[in-house]
Amino acid sequence: MTRRSIGIVLNGVTGRMGYRQHLVRSLLAIREAGGLPTRDGTLWPEPVLVGRSEAKLAEIAGRHGLTEWTTDLGAALARPDVSIYFDAQVTQAREKAIRQAIEAGKHVYTEKPLAETAVAATELADLAAAAGLKTGVVQDKLFLPGLRKLKRLIDGGFFGRILSVRGEFGYWVFEGDWQPAQRPSWNYRTADGGGIVMDMLPHWNYLLEELFGGVRSVQCTMATHIDTRVDEQGEPYAATADDAAYAVFELAGGAIAQINSSWCVRVYRDELVEFQVDGTEGSAVAGLRHCRVQHRSMTPKPVWNPDLPNSVPFRGQWAEVPDNEEFDNGFKAQWEAFLRHVAEDGPYHWDFASGTRGVRLAELALQSAREGRRIEVPQ
Ligand SMILES: NC(=O)c1ccc[n+]([C@@H]2O[C@H](COP(=O)([O-])OP(=O)(O)OC[C@H]3O[C@@H](n4cnc5c(N)ncnc54)[C@H](O)[C@@H]3O)[C@@H](O)[C@H]2O)c1
Repeated sequence: MTRRSIGIVLNGVTGRMGYRQHLVRSLLAIREAGGLPTRDGTLWPEPVLVGRSEAKLAEIAGRHGLTEWTTDLGAALARPDVSIYFDAQVTQAREKAIRQAIEAGKHVYTEKPLAETAVAATELADLAAAAGLKTGVVQDKLFLPGLRKLKRLIDGGFFGRILSVRGEFGYWVFEGDWQPAQRPSWNYRTADGGGIVMDMLPHWNYLLEELFGGVRSVQCTMATHIDTRVDEQGEPYAATADDAAYAVFELAGGAIAQINSSWCVRVYRDELVEFQVDGTEGSAVAGLRHCRVQHRSMTPKPVWNPDLPNSVPFRGQWAEVPDNEEFDNGFKAQWEAFLRHVAEDGPYHWDFASGTRGVRLAELALQSAREGRRIEVPQ
């Protein structure tokens, strides 16, 4: 089989997501597997690393036997052997770089959120469409094994009519004083593009849209529970961004979704994100890896009686949904779909239009929280 190289500019590759999930677990993993088989031969990703620090880029390149890296984005985008621009920079730096990539005629794949505002996201979508370029936005949660199994249950008609979805996402992010924080400090500063609403609502938008129906309205209450944190240099700073959001969504088709997102919650759950779905015929609880179900026929009949200790082993009455297939890393799976989309025009709908809807929902949730009211999502 012939091997075809495809140049990919990776910007923000020194960051958490850019390095671990996109370079190592996706593109280098595809190379380790011998490349990506396509209709016209094997596709071989050739990363061109871009960032602000020569030393860090050289170190990463050296560690993985890569030779192409630069601090000059313009020069990387001018390379004729590059077809794709990928962005995993801090959110605030994204829009400018994507505009530059579109001007250079490159297809664009990016981390979420696509931009800081829906207006900017729409402009990027329009510019890319006008230039005839292919676009993609990371929607990794759709590829989590637990949620793939949940989708399978929905497709198989397990639930009957879906009534409600309860999502619980979060964990304790250390303040940074006596233990280092496990997330970057920009996440907690509004001026630097931080905040859990802009971080997580784009995820919830595509998830709800693909699994249950588009979001018709949002009501959100948000908080900055921890107002002082300590940064990477050990300096205290004012945490100005929202670190928890409690949102209710009305969905097309009539189901109601409630999703709590918080970096100030201690985990008493089986997974860092879990969704309970209740339908007329059955219910499921899905997380990153697991998915458990209870059918109508197996539903116990609890009776409220605070005078007696509970005798019903509720958790034991749920059954584990089998994998029935192998689940690859979700970031890698989506990269493969995007590469096929570029190389052989394979189907792909996680594009800038979809990314724009995610940014718009986050924006409307922020507005809902500010104004203390439920807001309809324009259709
Ligand atoms: N899909 C997901 O599940 C997921 C999870 C976390 C983060 N993200 C997204 O990925 C992006 C990066 O997040 P992260 O957690 O990897 O952040 P990070 O802080 O670890 O990395 C950010 C990257 O941007 C670069 N950078 C920092 N400041 C910059 C500036 N002013 N100009 C240009 N580049 C700058 C850094 O050098 C680094 O390479 C964000 O947009 C975030 O929303 C997605």
